[in-house]
This record gives sequence, C-alpha cells and structure tokens, in this order.
Amino acid sequence: MSFENRVCVITGASSGIGRRTALDLASLGARVCAAARREDRLESLLLEIGGEEQGHSFHVTNVSSKQSVKSLADHVSTTYGRLDLLVNNAGFSDSRSLEEPGGVAALERVMATNFYGAVFCTAELLPLLVSSSPSSVVNVASVAGRLALGGDPSYCASKFALVGWSEALQSQLAGKGVHVGVVEPGLIPTEGFPQAKVRTDPLLRYLLGTEAQVSAAILDTVRRRVFERTVPRWYYLLQLPRLLAPPLYRAAERRLIAPRRVGPLDL
Ligand SMILES: NC(=O)c1ccc[n+]([C@@H]2O[C@H](COP(=O)([O-])OP(=O)(O)OC[C@H]3O[C@@H](n4cnc5c(N)ncnc54)[C@H](OP(=O)(O)O)[C@@H]3O)[C@@H](O)[C@H]2O)c1
Repeated sequence: MSFENRVCVITGASSGIGRRTALDLASLGARVCAAARREDRLESLLLEIGGEEQGHSFHVTNVSSKQSVKSLADHVSTTYGRLDLLVNNAGFSDSRSLEEPGGVAALERVMATNFYGAVFCTAELLPLLVSSSPSSVVNVASVAGRLALGGDPSYCASKFALVGWSEALQSQLAGKGVHVGVVEPGLIPTEGFPQAKVRTDPLLRYLLGTEAQVSAAILDTVRRRVFERTVPRWYYLLQLPRLLAPPLYRAAERRLIAPRRVGPLDL
C-alpha cells in the first residue's frame, strides 16, 4: 500500500515518536495533520515537512478534552473531507503512587490522555474513517500494555486498557473496512521518556530502540493490516513466560525484577 496523498492524523506529533512518524509519512507523500498542545512545535514541524502547499496542516489539540477533539475532527473534515489513517500516539506517564498526594488524580489524568484520548479521537473521526475506507487506526500503546514490569501502575492501567480496547475494536470495525492496529514500544529514548537510567547502564542500553523503529512499525502495521507489533520486535518473547507459566513469571517478577528496579521504568 502506498501512502501517497493519504490523509493521516497523528496525535502527539510535537515530539518523539509522533514527530518522527509525521516526518516519515510526509516523506512518503502523505498529507499530514499534526495534533498536539504545543503550537510552536507544530508550526516548526509544518515548516519542516513543506507546509500547507504540500497538503499538510496542524491543529492544536488536547486529546483528553472532548471539545478539543471535536474541533480537530471539524478541522480534518473541512480541510480534507476524508481520513485514511489515525495514529493515536499522544501519551505521558506520571508515576506517582496511590499513597502520594495527588496519586489518584494523577492516575485519572494518565487515563484521560493515554486511554480516553485515543477513544475520543477514534470516536470523533470514525465517520470520516468509515467513509474513506479502507482506512486504519493505529494505537501506540506500550509493552507496559502487555506486561506490568515497569513499576508504574497508572501508566500500565492506561496501556492495558488501550490494548484490550484495540483488540475488541478491531473485530467491530473490520466489517466497516477500518483496520485497527496496536504498536507496543519498549524502551525508546524520547523527550517525555528519556530513559536516563537505561542509557547509562553498560548492559541495559542494548535494550533501547529508536523513534525511527517505532515509526517504521506503525507504517508496517498499516501496510500489512496486522493487529500487533512490538518494538524492538523480540520484546514479544517477553510475554511468553507470563502466558505459559503465570505463577513462575510472578515469582520471578517479585524476586528478581522488582528488587532491582530503581524507580519506575520509562516504558
Ligand atoms: N518512549 C518510550 O520509551 C515509550 C515506550 C512505550 C510507549 N510509548 C508511548 O509512545 C507515545 C509517544 O511518546 P514519546 O516517547 O514519543 O514521548 P514524547 O516525546 O513525550 O511525546 C509525547 C507526545 O504526546 C503529546 N501529548 C501529551 N499529552 C497530550 C494531550 N493531552 N493532548 C495532546 N497531545 C498530548 C505531547 O505533545 P504536547 O505536549 O505538545 O501536547 C507529545 O507530542 C506515548 O503514547 C507513549 O506512552 C513510549
């Protein structure tokens, strides 16, 4: 499948994985609509990919606000009148525990962006995706959406919710010609997830992936219309012990991994 002339909305396009994906899609001839909250970042991205003359645009959007997402959908509808790909990528982590002040509110905010943000965007843009089918939605989750190893319950909850929702949604939307995929990055150094501890560890740094690998996985998910991709790919194997021998997996997590974890991991 070619991305030439396809209309693609990417949330969280102002930095990291979303920005990389916007650059890659634009270089393949897609018309990119970049969404995020930081207008200055979106403006410079637009300049970098060739501006409105090339069919690109941006819309300042807070995905956790239904009203803001509705305004994004209006923008896409009036500017393009169609939508071929929605990448729900906006996300962040706030690892405050339940015992800390504001711990519950932090969990609510994480869910509001990482999970409900994807739900709001998909719901508002669905009529355009259906009328433009075959089309795709790719949700950027995390390996933390399959494995609770990172020591950050709020983030894990948001990403498990996103993966479960995506898996159920794919069969619902398949009959309408809308493919749903999920990409699960591992440890990728970005602005929001700097991986400072892992980057300086002589062994663990080999576990790091790149923004470009995640972007390539997003595009591959769309091209091949597959459901799931982990990045790096071999991270998929990490799920096997949990699926095949849950008690052993939990014992290993408690005895080997949890004691060595110095604070939550950026997953
Ligand atoms: N890096 C990793 O190791 C890693 C691993 C697994 C999964 N992920 C996932 O990958 C996605 C991208 O993260 P990243 O690593 O590229 O981090 P990043 O550089 O911090 O990018 C996050 C993006 O999300 C946007 N965003 C955050 N809250 C938003 C909101 N309420 N409304 C709209 N946009 C919002 C940010 O833009 P504004 O601040 O301008 O709004 C930014 O563009 C996230 O969903 C993250 O959970 C990352």
